[in-house]
Amino acid sequence: AAPVPFYGEHQAGIVTPAQDRLHFVSFDVVTKERAELIDMLQEWTAAAARMTQGKDAGTFGALGGSPEAPPDDTGEALGLPASGLTLTIGFGPSLFDDRFGLKSRRPAALADLPKFPGDDLRPEISGGDICVQACAHDPQVAVHAIRNLARIGFGKVSVRWSQLGFGRTSSTSRAQATPRNLMGFKDGTNNLKLEDAAMLRDQLWVAPSDGAAWMAGGSYLVTRKIRMNIETWDRAPLSEQEQIFGRNKGEGAPLGGHKEFDEPDFAARGAGGTPVIADDAHVRLAHPSTHGGARLLRRGYNYVDGSDGLGRLDAGLFFIAYQRDPRKQFVPIQRMLARSDSLNEYIKHISSGLFACPPGLRDAGDYWGRTLF
Ligand code: HEM
Repeated sequence: AAPVPFYGEHQAGIVTPAQDRLHFVSFDVVTKERAELIDMLQEWTAAAARMTQGKDAGTFGALGGSPEAPPDDTGEALGLPASGLTLTIGFGPSLFDDRFGLKSRRPAALADLPKFPGDDLRPEISGGDICVQACAHDPQVAVHAIRNLARIGFGKVSVRWSQLGFGRTSSTSRAQATPRNLMGFKDGTNNLKLEDAAMLRDQLWVAPSDGAAWMAGGSYLVTRKIRMNIETWDRAPLSEQEQIFGRNKGEGAPLGGHKEFDEPDFAARGAGGTPVIADDAHVRLAHPSTHGGARLLRRGYNYVDGSDGLGRLDAGLFFIAYQRDPRKQFVPIQRMLARSDSLNEYIKHISSGLFACPPGLRDAGDYWGRTLF
């Protein structure tokens, strides 16, 4: 397959049909020099432009430089194709403190997320000044890309946390089959998709009139690491599992419907007048009709970080969602889910991230963050 183009109106890795693998990283900026930060972003951009096209991170490459110097590419992707690699950058709220003169540039939409009921967030795997989402069909290619950005950033940024993901849990194009999450359900059925041009304009991309002009054509990213109580879930009866989501497990159809893409009928009543889709079902509480039409572009991945020493899988969903304004999309949806979702018995949110992802790059003279600095 041809590499995903790096340049364009929007950053790649958002509506790009979701690849199979993820390596997501969040950095803290350690340099105090604004000029040094900008230099690094320019170096990163050049490396990203190369790596997404299947080339080495630096111009000499893993083997072409001086034998007396460390190579400008680490080498583990030698011989591998681009594998659909996309690299998507975002800037966190903490970058807009006093350090780099960016305070007045902070978009109102990049407002800190509130604390939600049930949150068990660990600061050491939450937040961060700059994130990079690497997605690819080959995990080695995604890891290689993040590793080389971290190498280039040595002394200017330090890795705060990172997350590997496998098995996309969303489709972001109608050309893709809907995959399943670790609870065994199809995930991404009613997602914002590449083909929904009018809805993407309305719900995904920041418009010039939205406030922060530097974000026009960009999008806001929310990440949540959501641990699943896998062993408890596996002991829940099938009918209960289906009630929790409001969809059946085989086809992914809304309860009361037949096909995956049938519209859920939230008014339908069964025997005795009980709702066919329960009042606390995930799809009812998350549905756009419950939130004045608000939607998300979900792009999450399954994760398994081994086991926890107590005989349980340390596993769940690394939730990723893009949107035009989290104050109107993620926050109200999650507020309702956190309060009422019957899924809560089986999950716990353990990390959170919020990032402003700027528009795409025009050409080789452009760089990540140009519109901001
Ligand atoms: C729908 C799973 C967390 C927002 C769904 C569906 C599944 C699912 C199976 C139905 C298929 C689909 O339309 O994609 C999960 C799991 C979660 C989780 C396992 C946690 C481990 C969240 C969170 C949010 C969210 C944190 C946002 C705050 C949505 C939305 C829909 C959806 C907006 C579409 C609802 C509709 O329009 O029908 N989710 N989800 N989910 N979920 Fe989640």
